[in-house]
This record gives sequence, C-alpha cells and structure tokens, in this order.
Amino acid sequence: MLRISVIGTGYLGATHAAGMAELGFEVLGVDNNPAKAASLSAGRVPFHEPGLPELLAGHVADGRLRFGTSLVEAAEFADVHFLCVGTPPGVNGAADLSQLYSALDGLVPHLTRNCLIVGKSTVPVGTAEALTSRIAELAPDGISVDLAWNPEFLREGHAVYDTLRPNRLVFGVTTPDAEWALRQVYATPIAAGSPVVITNLPTAELIKVSANAFLATKISFINAMAELCDLTGADVTLLADALGHDDRIGRKFLGAGLGYGGGCLPKDVRALIARATELGAGESVEFLRDIDAVNLRRRERVVRETLGLLGGALRPSGRVGILGAAFKPLSDDVRDSPALDVAVQLHAAGVDVTVFDPAATGPARAVAPQLVFAATAAAALHEADVVLHLTEWREFQELDPAFLRTVVRGRVIIDARNTLDPEPWLAAGWDFRALGRLVEPRTAPRVVPVVTPYPTPSVTARDLAAPSPLTRLRARVRRTA
Ligand code: UGA
Repeated sequence: MLRISVIGTGYLGATHAAGMAELGFEVLGVDNNPAKAASLSAGRVPFHEPGLPELLAGHVADGRLRFGTSLVEAAEFADVHFLCVGTPPGVNGAADLSQLYSALDGLVPHLTRNCLIVGKSTVPVGTAEALTSRIAELAPDGISVDLAWNPEFLREGHAVYDTLRPNRLVFGVTTPDAEWALRQVYATPIAAGSPVVITNLPTAELIKVSANAFLATKISFINAMAELCDLTGADVTLLADALGHDDRIGRKFLGAGLGYGGGCLPKDVRALIARATELGAGESVEFLRDIDAVNLRRRERVVRETLGLLGGALRPSGRVGILGAAFKPLSDDVRDSPALDVAVQLHAAGVDVTVFDPAATGPARAVAPQLVFAATAAAALHEADVVLHLTEWREFQELDPAFLRTVVRGRVIIDARNTLDPEPWLAAGWDFRALGRLVEPRTAPRVVPVVTPYPTPSVTARDLAAPSPLTRLRARVRRTA
C-alpha cells in the first residue's frame, strides 16, 4: 500500500492527514512548528473542527498516523507527498508562495525513491509549472519525481465529511502514473461515487480559485440585492428563496447579511485579481473588485447603523453586546472574520464592546486583545444598549429574548446574519432589525389582495393620495435605516 506524507499540518493538512489514515494509509504529517507537531502527536487538534479530534486521536492511537518536523524523514518514508502549506496574501493581495518553495527545498533533495508530489494548497494559476522546474533542479540523479495538483474544496465546520466524501475530485496531472497513484489514494471515495475530473495543471489550479470566486460572487450578488431591498421595502430572504427555486441558480450561498470572511474567499478573490492583472487580463476580472467592495460595505453598514443608534459616529456612547466572533459557525477561525472586524471597528470608534462566541474566544482574543470577551451570551449582553448578532451559531437561535430583555439596557438587536426568528424577539418587546429583510409580527393582519370583478374600478388621484393598506403595513414594519 502507498505511504503518504502530508507537509503542512494547519487546518487543511491536519484534516487531510487524519482523512488519509481513515482511508487506510500509513501517514506521516510534517510541520516546521514543533509545538503543532507535538500537539497533533499527542492526538490534540489545535483548532475547532467537529469530528476531527476523534478521528485524529483514533489513528494516532492505532499507529497509522504520526507527526514530526523532519522533511528528510518524509522524503524517506512516503510514495505520495501532499503539499498542504499556507499560501497567505503577500504584496497587493498576490499569494505568497514562499512556504511551498521551502517545502520543496527541504524535501526534494532528500528523496530516495520515485514518488509523486501533490499540491493541495490554493495557488495562482501557473504555480505548478514553476514548481515543476524547481523540482527538476532539486531532484537527486536517477530519481523520478512527478507533480500533480489536487485542489481541496473542504468547508470548515464540515471538513471531515468533505475529506472522506468529497463532492468532486480534481486531478491535474501530466502523466498516467500520477493519475493511477491518485486513483489509488482516493479509491474509497471514488467507489462511493465522488466524481473525478482529470485535467492539466493550470486547469486544476484555476478550478479551485474560480470556485471560491464564484461563491463570493453569489454572496455579494445577494448582498447587493439586500441593499436594494432596504431601499424599497422588498425582502431579500424571500427573494433568495424564489431565486433558489430555479435550479440553474440554487438557494445555497444566497444567504444575505454581513458578507463573507475567513481564510479563503476574501484572499482568493484578491489573489485572482492580482494574478489576472499580472497576466495582463485585469479587465476580465474587474467585476471581482466590486464583489470585494460590496462585501466590505456590509460590515461598514452595520458599524454605521450601530454608531447611529449610539448617538452618531463622532461621539458614540454606550455599550454593544456582540454575539459571534468566528467567521462562520462551527469554527473557531477568526481570519478576516466579518464579526470580529465589526467589533474591532466599533471599539476603535470609542464604543464599549463585549463579545461572546461559543468557540472562538481564544483566537479572537489573540488578534484583538483590546476587546472584552464574555463567557456567556447573557454576560456579553449585560447592560448593552445595542445587541449585534454577527455569527449565525445555532445556539443563538435558541436564546430567550424575554430573559435577555432583563439583562440589557436598550432593547435593540440587529440580526446581521438574517437567521434569527424575529417573532419571539418582537413579542418580548425588542426593536428587531435585519439586513434587507422585512421584519413583521407573524400575528399582523395580512394584506389580502382583493380580486375585483371586471371592470376594474377607476382609480382617482384622491385614492392614490390616501395611504393604502400596504403603505400602512410598511409603516408598521420595523426595519433598518
Ligand atoms: C470555502 C469554500 O466554501 C470551500 O469549498 C473551500 O474549500 C474553502 O473555502 C477553501 O478554499 O479552503 P470556508 O472558507 O470554510 O470554505 O467557508 P464557506 O462555508 O465558504 O463560508 C465563507 C464565508 O461566506 C463565511 O463567512 C460565511 O458566513 C459566508 N457566507 C456563506 C455568507 O455570507 N452567505 C452564504 O450564503 C454563505
């Protein structure tokens, strides 16, 4: 059976290593951070990912999975080496590839047998070709080293499932041997029905970034519609539902609210702009700048409205209780988190901010030590003038608004993720606001359209001037400014 090394054991690498062990392989994970390698060797996952601690600890215990810091050991051990190192944003948003190059520099000169190196990190198109040249320079005489690109599509919070049962497998290859080896590695998910796309290196690289750019586009599209909804009395959640019924569009990633964040979508959109510009095709992706701009406007909008509620941007006064710091639920990741960004911006404007997140307090405190963090939602909301719901953890949907009204000072909540049920909040006397979404008590009398018999009565100028039932309903609707 093939032996596997996974180089870089951050979020992607640790999950991939445990997943490969679960698929039956002997796996060595390598990280240049000894503390991380030691923690993983002890079966501890240093981030929040449902199901991963059990999987990882199980395979460390059964001996199929181990971790270390030596690329020389990896070179001697494995037949297939997965590159899972980070490609963080560098100059002008372009991806910084230095970790990929130093992994190859540490690995390839020490290879003792023919092998396959598989890139999983997200890279600008053209990277694999450049790495092929580097490998050719570094490979020991007589050793044949193949390079393939196998981008990863796992979602944080669902990483274990996505690793064991990927919704597609993309193999960018240049030789039949590389395809054969990847088919061996993924034999179990392929047998279970995961579709395989075989292609060349640049297509594989581009599939990954374009998938993330497309997802970002969907989110910013619906958020742009939310801006229009706010101005017109339309409802973005119903709009998204109706769009989603068209299966050419689909309902997923049409969740309007605070916009996207995390370590992938924002960075990948900017890296694609940077790479296209380098290639002289900046105009082709000009629209992605708008996608980014719409996304950042969502955060500004919540900050502006909150400051407005607290007496204005110049001299805001009061307390804000914030629900959520992670960039999305089921994660403790705060990289480019919209929630944390809003908290930091409000704090910088002079507002007294207290944050609660079910999982991300540690990482959030590390990057924003100036903020106050509470151990419970109720503690974060203590004497708050405004409450912001910024990360849609399920447990926030189960909060008791009647109890929380006794805790706060001002009963205003902005549901910036459009996922809370307004009814219990309104019933408990809260001023419930949302983003692009109509908020009305379910008990409100519905405006039933009157079907008039033909001929339609003529409408006079006086009729038009009088407030219609719809206008009256709109007046009752509490919505954001
Ligand atoms: C994303 C992709 O979904 C994965 O397929 C990909 O493998 C991964 O990036 C990566 O490149 O590694 P992830 O960053 O885990 O996964 O998060 P998503 O679930 O895509 O959510 C991204 C952001 O969009 C979150 O802040 C989320 O709150 C936001 N979002 C998502 C919305 O605002 N509205 C939606 O309808 C959906």
